Amino acid sequence: MAHNYDLVILGGGTGGYMTAIRAVQLGLKTAVVEKEALGGTCLHKGCIPTKALLKSASVFQQVKSAATFGVETSEPTFNLMQAIERKDNIVASLHEGVTHLMKTNRIDVYEGYGRILGPSIFSPIAGTISVEYDDDRENDLLIPKNVVIATGSSPAVLPSIKSDHEDILTSDDLVNLTELPASIVIVGGGVIGIEWASFLHDAGVEVTILEAQEHILPMFDQEITKQLKRSLEKKGITIVEQAKIESATKTEATKLQVQYQKKDQIHQMTADKLLLAVGRKANTYKIGLENTDIQVDQKGFISVNQDFQTEESHIYAIGDVIGGRQLAHVATYEGKKAVEHIADVTTSTLSDQEIPSCIYSNPEVAMIGFTEQEVKQKGYDYQTEKISLQAIGKAHVNGHTDGFMKIIIDTKTDDILGIHLLGEHVTELIGQASIAKYFDSSALELSEVMYPHPSVGEIFGEAAQAVQGRKIHG
Ligand code: NAI
Repeated sequence: MAHNYDLVILGGGTGGYMTAIRAVQLGLKTAVVEKEALGGTCLHKGCIPTKALLKSASVFQQVKSAATFGVETSEPTFNLMQAIERKDNIVASLHEGVTHLMKTNRIDVYEGYGRILGPSIFSPIAGTISVEYDDDRENDLLIPKNVVIATGSSPAVLPSIKSDHEDILTSDDLVNLTELPASIVIVGGGVIGIEWASFLHDAGVEVTILEAQEHILPMFDQEITKQLKRSLEKKGITIVEQAKIESATKTEATKLQVQYQKKDQIHQMTADKLLLAVGRKANTYKIGLENTDIQVDQKGFISVNQDFQTEESHIYAIGDVIGGRQLAHVATYEGKKAVEHIADVTTSTLSDQEIPSCIYSNPEVAMIGFTEQEVKQKGYDYQTEKISLQAIGKAHVNGHTDGFMKIIIDTKTDDILGIHLLGEHVTELIGQASIAKYFDSSALELSEVMYPHPSVGEIFGEAAQAVQGRKIHG
């Protein structure tokens, strides 16, 4: 059956469904096509389930140290199935919320596989969406004025090592783990590798990370990642940098034999499981790009202009499928911008420097703006100040003084170039830095703000005062 819309969104992940809601607010008759479940990777395989599991592991660690807070407990154990059940309940409840939002916003949701068709009797331009179903239902044909492609990304694998979903896993497999392995090798010391390493170690698994580049987390400030590395190693995680995985084969025992190369030498180790965390690839398979003039870049991500239009100006693409910063909050921002462009509405634009990034490991990492390596490379005259959590009273109360804040300031303008945090719950603090960056505040202004005492957020005031030469506790 054929249906007309102002906008059809291909993919009902976080980027897709939030875009749909903004489109309806702008008066567009909107439909979403989703082949699996509304909420996508973020809700079902990424942000939410992984943070739920990390929370369980963090509670486990906290109970282990409860005696230092004066709380006597018996020896705790980690019950993976209970943690998975809690995670599933959180996901189910949020999924129900998203489904409800689609109804209250009168957004039609087609639960099938969407494919873009070329020019046809239905439309002289490419962009009609054929929705195909698993059962014997007839295809639906959606005829939109505009399309937003928000099909997201999937875990990448290596040419020499593919996932068998049993021993060689991707992050999609790990969210539904039924048993903790005794040991795991994680290939890739990026965000996914580090978060899973943290969860698995804290839950009791022996973890080794193999990272091909010189340092783990190359996109983050090196002072932060060096300290994070020390903290993770102190906990017992093994991190091997400049280590390129060569092969992983199953021996006759149940162990995997892993070979990697470091400085021209081949090393061997065994582990129960291996996680591939080597990046994510665009979900463009069989979505009909060949029926359009849409271009993809060398890595397979859809090419768009500054308004998120593809080569077909009425077809937009947002989120992981266009590459760049593969973050849920970036996808929703891009979707909002795309539909505002369709509706000819202008709102403020954020620069790359105003996008926060977080790692929900234990300890956590959060950042916004440039790293010190970037400001050096760009030739800024800059000043950095570092305040340890040791200087913050509330961090002592919380029992977590492992970490610090680093602020990078342009010495000519007093502008904030970057803010970098390491420590417990710093992902909850980086929003303050987002506000400061959005309002273009200077270090002086940040030092004049009143922060409640005692709170970990006082670290912003301490760092900004340090820039002014008025350091108090640091
Ligand atoms: P990534 O690109 O951040 O890291 C992959 C790492 O694997 C790189 O450091 C790379 O050098 C390494 N690598 C590649 N090939 C290798 C080999 N053969 N041997 C050893 N190491 C190798 O990708 P990742 O961690 O998979 O994350 C994908 C995307 O998802 C990222 O953009 C990330 O920001 C996003 N994400 C964000 C989260 C958050 O905001 N908290 C959580 C999870 C993912």
